[in-house]
Amino acid sequence: MSGFDPRGARVLVTGASRGIGEAIAREFAGAGAEVVLAARSADRIEDLARELKGHAFPLDVSDPQQLEGFVGRVEDEVGPLDVLVNNAGVESSHYLERTDEGEIARIVAINLVAPMRLARQVLPGMVDRARGRIVNISSLAAMTPTPGLVVYGATKAGLSQFSDGLRFELKGTGVGVTVAHLGPIDTEMWDKVVDIKGLDAAQARLRRMGLLVTVSPAKVARDVVGAVRTGRREIRHPKRLWSNMALAASPKRITEALLVGFDPRPYVD
Ligand SMILES: NC(=O)c1ccc[n+]([C@@H]2O[C@H](COP(=O)([O-])OP(=O)(O)OC[C@H]3O[C@@H](n4cnc5c(N)ncnc54)[C@H](OP(=O)(O)O)[C@@H]3O)[C@@H](O)[C@H]2O)c1
Repeated sequence: MSGFDPRGARVLVTGASRGIGEAIAREFAGAGAEVVLAARSADRIEDLARELKGHAFPLDVSDPQQLEGFVGRVEDEVGPLDVLVNNAGVESSHYLERTDEGEIARIVAINLVAPMRLARQVLPGMVDRARGRIVNISSLAAMTPTPGLVVYGATKAGLSQFSDGLRFELKGTGVGVTVAHLGPIDTEMWDKVVDIKGLDAAQARLRRMGLLVTVSPAKVARDVVGAVRTGRREIRHPKRLWSNMALAASPKRITEALLVGFDPRPYVD
């Protein structure tokens, strides 16, 4: 899938009020893109939008009514979107039997349902224009057992599978999908996650083996902008777990190899 120059591209980033989303918005703005920032913290995204000469659209992605027609409202005001970065996400910081059932629904809504709904809304325009990229921010927890993060991990596994399936469905349209598989990134979310004692103990062992390192949000952001430029399908951090991630992806790669030359588009009615 070919990439395109982010200069002049219009980029919607969810969860842009802090952490990885803020870093991604800054990196796109630095590359000459017009950024559209969405999150619940209206003040923070409005300040950032002013600084980056972009736009702020307050949004709670866990609220189905706020999601309804959201992309249409954005595009009516600022113009067609070239990139959607589904970054907004929340962690579940308990073992399952200590997790409230309402909390399960909220995590699934934010981490999995909202990215699907936003992608569905942005796709018709992108496919018509034969240009666009959807970037989904997933996690190493999508492919590893993570005590204390099992609901989170399940939503991220869903997001990764959604990304790979959608990429195949969009073959030949000019619209690409990138998925980011991230281990520890230095943000407020990571500060909360290390409080989960079982996860901390498991990760301490991986760190002693030299397999886990914490990566900066700025590094992830550079890779996301690079993926739009080059059309890269997957971002992996930390790099030293690259081979584990490649092995986890291999069954899908095998199926893709078996289906080389298959065109899914004529079957869209
Ligand atoms: N940090 C890590 O180690 C790590 C590792 C792997 C993957 N990730 C993923 O990276 C993404 C960003 O995480 P982060 O580390 O930057 O976390 P963070 O610092 O906690 O930031 C989360 C962002 O999501 C937004 N958000 C949360 N709930 C929302 C809602 N209901 N509606 C709209 N926006 C919402 C927050 O904005 P408001 O509070 O203003 O709404 C904030 O901008 C997440 O998808 C996360 O799962 C992070």
